[in-house]
Amino acid sequence: MAPWVRPEFHRLRVGTTYPERRKMGSLDETRGITFDLSRLFLTFIWKLTMKAIEKVSVFGLGKLGACIAATLAQRGFDVVGIDIDGEKVRKINAGLPPVEEPLLAETISAGRSRLRATQDHKEAVGTDVSFFIPPSPSLPDGSFSNEFLLRAMQPVAAAVRAQGKKGHLFVCSSTTTPGAIDQVLIPMLEREIGGICGQDFSVCYNPEFIALGNVVNGLLEPDMVLIGESDPGSGAALEQLYRKYNRNTPRIARMSIISAELTKISVNSYITMKISFTNQLRMVAEQFPKANIHTILEAIGSDSRIGQKYLRAGLSYGGPCFPRDNRLLAYVARQVGLEAPLAEASDRTNQQANLDLFEKVRKLATKNGTVAVLGLAYKPDTYITEESAGLFLAQQLKRHGYRVLVHDYGATPANSPNLHEFEHIADPASLEKRGDIPVAVICCPWPQYRTVKFAPGTKVVASWKL
Ligand SMILES: NC(=O)c1ccc[n+]([C@@H]2O[C@H](COP(=O)([O-])OP(=O)(O)OC[C@H]3O[C@@H](n4cnc5c(N)ncnc54)[C@H](O)[C@@H]3O)[C@@H](O)[C@H]2O)c1
Repeated sequence: MAPWVRPEFHRLRVGTTYPERRKMGSLDETRGITFDLSRLFLTFIWKLTMKAIEKVSVFGLGKLGACIAATLAQRGFDVVGIDIDGEKVRKINAGLPPVEEPLLAETISAGRSRLRATQDHKEAVGTDVSFFIPPSPSLPDGSFSNEFLLRAMQPVAAAVRAQGKKGHLFVCSSTTTPGAIDQVLIPMLEREIGGICGQDFSVCYNPEFIALGNVVNGLLEPDMVLIGESDPGSGAALEQLYRKYNRNTPRIARMSIISAELTKISVNSYITMKISFTNQLRMVAEQFPKANIHTILEAIGSDSRIGQKYLRAGLSYGGPCFPRDNRLLAYVARQVGLEAPLAEASDRTNQQANLDLFEKVRKLATKNGTVAVLGLAYKPDTYITEESAGLFLAQQLKRHGYRVLVHDYGATPANSPNLHEFEHIADPASLEKRGDIPVAVICCPWPQYRTVKFAPGTKVVASWKL
C-alpha cells in the first residue's frame, strides 16, 4: 500500500468512480478538512512513517519540463526524463539543454550524474513519483485538451498494472481544465491500473507559476507551491519533496484537486485583470495631454492593497499562459451556467490595446510606408512570440500593405517560424544610419533597446518605460 494512503479509502467499494467517491464525502474538503483532528493526527503519523521521494520521472522535456527535470536533479533527486521527442532525449543524455532557457545548461551540468532521459514510458514505474508536463493546448471553446496528458499517462498506468506496483504517485503539472483530473484522468488511471485512486495509486495536481526566461529561479524560489491532492498522504509526500527542492521557504497551499485547478487559472486571470486595468487607464490618460500614466500608476501601486507588480504601463499581455488561462476561467464559468465578466473584459481590453497600438502607428506612418517593429517576444529573456503585442502589430501592418522590418533579441525565424514573413534588422545599431525607416515601434521592453539610437527622421513609439 502507498505510504501516503488515507486509511478511510480502504473501506471504499471498488467500482465506485472517483467523482462518486467525492460525493460520498471521503474527498470532500468542505467537511472540515482544517478542523478534523483525526486528519491532523493521520497526517502527523504519515509524516513520521512516510518514505521520502528520492526517484522521480518527468514526462515532457519541453520549456517547463526540461527545467523541472534539471532542477530536481540539481537538488539531489534521481531523475529520469521521458519524452516522445528523441532529439530532446538525446540532448539531455549528452548534457545539453533541449530548449532555450537561461540557466538551463548550467543546471543540467550541475545535476548531470543524477539526470538521464529515455523514450520508454515504462521506466517511470521504477520511480516514486511521475511528473507530467506535456502540452495541454487550448481548444476552440476555451477549454484545454487532455489528449497529451492521457497519451503520456496511459502507458505508465498500464506498466504499473503489469508490474503489480502499488502506490505510484502521478503528478499533473500541465495546466488542465478544472474538473478534467477528477472526471477524465483519474477514471482513465483507475481503469488502466485496475485499482482505486488514493488506495492503489495517488494523483496530485501541481502546476508551476513561472515566467519563461526565469524558469529555473522561478521554480526553485516560488512565492507559493500549489498542491491539489487525491489524498492527504500524497500531498504530504509532495510537500516533503518541495521542502528539499525549494531554495526558499514558500507557502505550500494544499487543497483538493478541483480547488487547485481553479486556483491555478485564477492567479493568471487576476494578473491579466491587473494588466488590462493599466492598459485601460493608459488609453484614457493618453486623451489628457498633461496626464502621465507612469506617474499615475506609481502612485496607485504604492497603496499596499494594490501593489506595484504588473502595474506598469506598457502593451498587451501575451505568451503561452496568461491569455489562455484567463479565457479558460471564462469557459469554466460558462460551463456552470455563470458569466465571468471580469475575465472577459480583461481579454477584450487586451485586444483593444493591440488595436489601439496599430491605429496609433497607422496615424504616424504614411500609407504603405515602412515600419520597424522592435521586440517580437511576449516578454524579455525569451524567444516565444505567442500572442505577443509585437507579432500582432507586425502581422496587422503587413496585412494592410506596409513594409515591415522586425528585430528581437531572442526571437528569430529559426525558433519562431512566424517571423519568416518579415524583413529582418540584424543589428539594431544600424538603425542610427538608416534613413529609410520613418517609424519604429518598441513592443517588448528588452532593456537593450534603451541604448539604441535612431536616425534623426525616425519617429519612435515607445510604450514601455525602458
Ligand atoms: N511554458 C510556460 O510558460 C508554462 C507555464 C506554466 C504552465 N505551462 C503548462 O505546462 C505544460 C507544458 O508546457 P511547455 O511550454 O513546457 O510545452 P512544450 O511544448 O515546450 O513541451 C511539451 C513536451 O512534452 C512532450 N510530449 C508530448 N507528448 C508526450 C508524451 N506522450 N509523453 C512524453 N512527452 C510528451 C513534447 O515532445 C514536448 O517536449 C502546458 O500545459 C502549459 O500550459 C507552461
